[in-house]
Amino acid sequence: MEVVIAPPGELARLAADAVEGLVRANPEAVLGLATGSSPLAVYDELVRRHEAGLSFARARAFMLDEYVGLPADHPERYRNVIDKEFASRVDLAPGAVQGPDGLAADLPAACAAYEQAIADAGGVDLQILGIGTDGHIAFNEPGSSLASRTRIKTLTKQTREDNARFFGGSVDDVPRHCLTQGLATIMSARHLVLLASGRTKAEAVHQLVEGPVSAMWPATIMQLHPHATVLVDDAAASRLQLADYYRQTYAEKPDWQGL
Ligand code: GLP
Repeated sequence: MEVVIAPPGELARLAADAVEGLVRANPEAVLGLATGSSPLAVYDELVRRHEAGLSFARARAFMLDEYVGLPADHPERYRNVIDKEFASRVDLAPGAVQGPDGLAADLPAACAAYEQAIADAGGVDLQILGIGTDGHIAFNEPGSSLASRTRIKTLTKQTREDNARFFGGSVDDVPRHCLTQGLATIMSARHLVLLASGRTKAEAVHQLVEGPVSAMWPATIMQLHPHATVLVDDAAASRLQLADYYRQTYAEKPDWQGL
């Protein structure tokens, strides 16, 4: 696991560098897209690079998760958020972005179909991730099976309170259930790039990087991934025991070595 502690602008550039390098090397790359505020600066940076010539025309993308039951035109439906924040601002082909269907009549069947769609695409090359204050990735709340696949989950009170800001501050308007890629689904991606900023993420980041691997802090499963990159600002890094070593490692990183 590589941990980079840097100002937010640099973190977004580094994540965008990884995506750009991948898409230039393989224009048909499969991207994993995350919602939440953490990846927004990365999407903005990728849009700037698209305007400067980077094309996503042959790429495909899979989303991490989706609320159950939000109407198709609801602005906070993750499908609509990803369209607004990224897909509609670049040249991804129509239908190139897929997400779990939170409006399906048969939700377990929709989850199984989603797993199959990811497999049929050859898997995700680079998965962008944020992290919840309780250590969830996608919507894999504490207690999630470390071997889980896409399924229905019940959101914790904490997550619904954290996400109420997107629903006019009303916790009651935040859906109670979601469909989410499982931890094993996420672990199947070939490169994981997680971004976190702010003091509210400090404990989750400490557990993710330095805690014991445990379903209580689902993101800790990333310690078992052969290519995981954790990009954090000073505040999110404030509880890391080995912060000085991570800073030294990044400062002494050879120029030729990307993320
Ligand atoms: C939601 C999303 C996660 C995201 C998390 C953190 O719960 N399902 O994918 O990582 O929020 O969001 P933020 O980046 O806004 O803190």
